Amino acid sequence: MKLEHPALIDLLQRAYSAEKAAAFAYQGHAGSVRKAEEKKAINQIEIDEWNHRREVLTIMKQYDIPVSKYYEVRFHIIGKIISYSCYIIGWFMPFYFAGRLESGNVCEYFRMKQFFNSLGIKEHDVQLYNMGIKEKEHEVYFLDGIKNNKLLPFFEKFFGWGGKNSFNNIDLEKKYPVEESESYCKVKSS
Ligand SMILES: [Fe+2]
Ligand SMILES: [Fe+2]
Repeated sequence: MKLEHPALIDLLQRAYSAEKAAAFAYQGHAGSVRKAEEKKAINQIEIDEWNHRREVLTIMKQYDIPVSKYYEVRFHIIGKIISYSCYIIGWFMPFYFAGRLESGNVCEYFRMKQFFNSLGIKEHDVQLYNMGIKEKEHEVYFLDGIKNNKLLPFFEKFFGWGGKNSFNNIDLEKKYPVEESESYCKVKSS
C-alpha cells in the first residue's frame, strides 16, 4: 500500500535519518562526559535512537517509502559535527542542546500518529506513542541534569527551551494512555 500523504512521507524519511544524527551525537556526548553514570545513561539513549531508526524503517518499508539519500548525507554530517563538538564545548551545552532537540522530537512521533489516523490507519498508534514517550524521557533526563545550573535561565531566554518552556505538552507524571493521547502535540488550527 502506498501512502497518499507527502508530509507524512517526508516526516518519516527525515525522522529515519535524524535518528542516526542523534545516535552519532550521543556517541560523542557519552565519550566526552566524565561521570560513569552519565556515560551509561547516554549510551542507553544512543541505543534507543538506533532502535527508533529501525522501527521507523520497518514502517517505511511497509509503504514502499525509500530512504532519502539527501537526508542521510545531511544528517550524517550534522551528527558527526555534533559528536566531535561535544569534546570541545564543555559539559553544559551538550546537555542543553540534547534536551532541546529531544523536546522537539517528541512531537514528530505524535504528529506521525495524527497523520496516519487522518488516513484511517491506526495500527502504528502504540508504536509511535511509545517512541514519542521515549523521546520525552530523554528530554527529562537532560533537563534534570541541568535544571539547577546557573546557565539555564540564560540559555532558556535565548534558545526558548528549559525548565519553563518545552516544545511539547506531555507531562510524564500525568501521562495519558495511547487512546487518549489525541491532545498531544495538536497544532492549533486558526
Ligand atoms: Fe529517537
Ligand atoms: Fe531521543
